[in-house]
Amino acid sequence: MSVDKNPKKITKMFDEISSYYDKMNNLISLGTHCLIKKIALENLAIKPYSNILDLCCGTGDFTKIINKIAPKSKIIGLDSSVEMLKLAKIKNPQKVFMYGDCTNLPFKENEFDYITIGFGLRNVKNRQKAISEIYRTLKTDGKFLHLDFGNHKFPSKIFDYIVKFMVKIHGLKFENYQYLIKSKNEYPEPNGLIKEFENEGFKLIKRKDFLFGVVSYQILQKQLK
Ligand SMILES: C[S@@+](CC[C@H](N)C(=O)[O-])C[C@H]1O[C@@H](n2cnc3c(N)ncnc32)[C@H](O)[C@@H]1O
Repeated sequence: MSVDKNPKKITKMFDEISSYYDKMNNLISLGTHCLIKKIALENLAIKPYSNILDLCCGTGDFTKIINKIAPKSKIIGLDSSVEMLKLAKIKNPQKVFMYGDCTNLPFKENEFDYITIGFGLRNVKNRQKAISEIYRTLKTDGKFLHLDFGNHKFPSKIFDYIVKFMVKIHGLKFENYQYLIKSKNEYPEPNGLIKEFENEGFKLIKRKDFLFGVVSYQILQKQLK
């Protein structure tokens, strides 16, 4: 049976795990997620005074890194979990965060120079709607960074064991992390996702795989249709 991505359930799950989300990210990625996020964002080559939207911003990791590498830019973080947003605000007190759904963005056309989404799109039931909203709100030639799990080869299976082990030794609710494993294994591999992005009007300009392909980012540019 495929994983249930009912938006209400997803929001409830992230509200529930928010208090230990960062700690678990450090444990299950063996500390690598911060470095991968930093490399991906550096490769976006953000120009000063840009307008940036970070979708599915969670606890605000991207905002913190963007603020360091492009301090003169304006960043908005958007997420559908109030509890995750509270933590993002604590981490980035000066920054703007808003509650919202990435499949129905409260912004006009061509508003952002850059849109980022890290480990977020995988959780969205109507992925095509989210991609079309990213396209709509991005300026022509604007860039979109997508970072998430990558291919489903053997190293990705090792990751599943690491997650199960960490959840067990920390006595956490397995259901939420079972969702993580299932959603990872059902998520299209980067080649499939790139086709979805291209179908919506994006052109791939850069891709990099990490940890033997377990994690991957793609940078895409909005082309006129
Ligand atoms: C795995 S976390 C990633 C957080 C952060 N980007 C990071 O890399 O650590 C996924 C986030 O996506 C948010 N989310 C899921 N569905 C969403 C939607 N439809 N619209 C906005 N945010 C959503 C969740 O609330 C959660 O905070």
